[in-house]
Amino acid sequence: MMSIMTAEIYLILSGKGGVGKTTIFSNLAIALAMSGKEIIVIDADLAMPNLGLVFGMIDPPITIHDVLAGSEPIEKAIYEGPHGLKFIPGGESIEGYQAADPSGMIDVLDNLKDKADYILIDGPVGLNEDIVLLLSVVDHVMIISTPDLISMADALRMRLIAESTDPIIDGAILNRTNVHGENEAIELLEKTMELKILAAIPDDINVHRAGLNKIPLVISNPDSPASIAIRKLAAQLTGVEFIPDTKKSGIIQKILGTLGFNVNSNERPN
Ligand SMILES: Nc1ncnc2c1ncn2[C@@H]1O[C@H](COP(=O)(O)OP(=O)(O)O)[C@@H](O)[C@H]1O
Ligand SMILES: [Mg+2]
Repeated sequence: MMSIMTAEIYLILSGKGGVGKTTIFSNLAIALAMSGKEIIVIDADLAMPNLGLVFGMIDPPITIHDVLAGSEPIEKAIYEGPHGLKFIPGGESIEGYQAADPSGMIDVLDNLKDKADYILIDGPVGLNEDIVLLLSVVDHVMIISTPDLISMADALRMRLIAESTDPIIDGAILNRTNVHGENEAIELLEKTMELKILAAIPDDINVHRAGLNKIPLVISNPDSPASIAIRKLAAQLTGVEFIPDTKKSGIIQKILGTLGFNVNSNERPN
């Protein structure tokens, strides 16, 4: 079978919900789009879809569920997000969930592969049949965990499942660090799970504020601690060296950014 396939496909997984998978995933996608890459993000958390919400779409008319049910073509489920990013949201209805056939994701990915530099998939949570299928077609897997025992134990389970299907596990993203003794957690995670920590993203009040303001963090607060960690990870994925823009953000702007003020540095500094 001959097809031009260019996009690198990343699957982002977590062992349990609420660890920040969608938050980190969507901001990572925006950070990649900001660097000029063609990005498509797909909500494959078919049971608990909330990617649309992140991009301000409460009830998208056509979703990945319609595509997987065979009732709409993929082109109609693609929406435009910030910085030219394209997103494919999920739908909320139970009937839609029941009608969707997850195995259609293989065709979806095949269809999209020559339309982006990176395809990021917000994967299902926990042990799930859909994961095994996705694992067989993606190029990379990243597991998100918070630095606590339960989340890490679930992340370890996910790693074992992923390995049984033999994809490359790039490593783990540790989210909401800097809370308590996370250095030990990082060491434990690296040693016992033999998972490379790709990024440690600090707990950051601006994540919450960005959510309330409905503006993604890397746009509203590009210099806040979590944003910097996410932008570093984006640079790592594209093989670019991350250089924080110290010219644009002086000390005062940095502090204001960290406190949650919208410091737009586009104004001319004079
Ligand atoms: N680094 C962070 N600092 C502070 N709050 C965070 C951080 N990451 C995620 N959150 C918060 O955690 C909650 C769960 O995030 P979400 O992305 O929905 O998780 P998941 O997709 O894993 O269920 C949200 O309220 C989000 O604002
Ligand atoms: Mg989520």
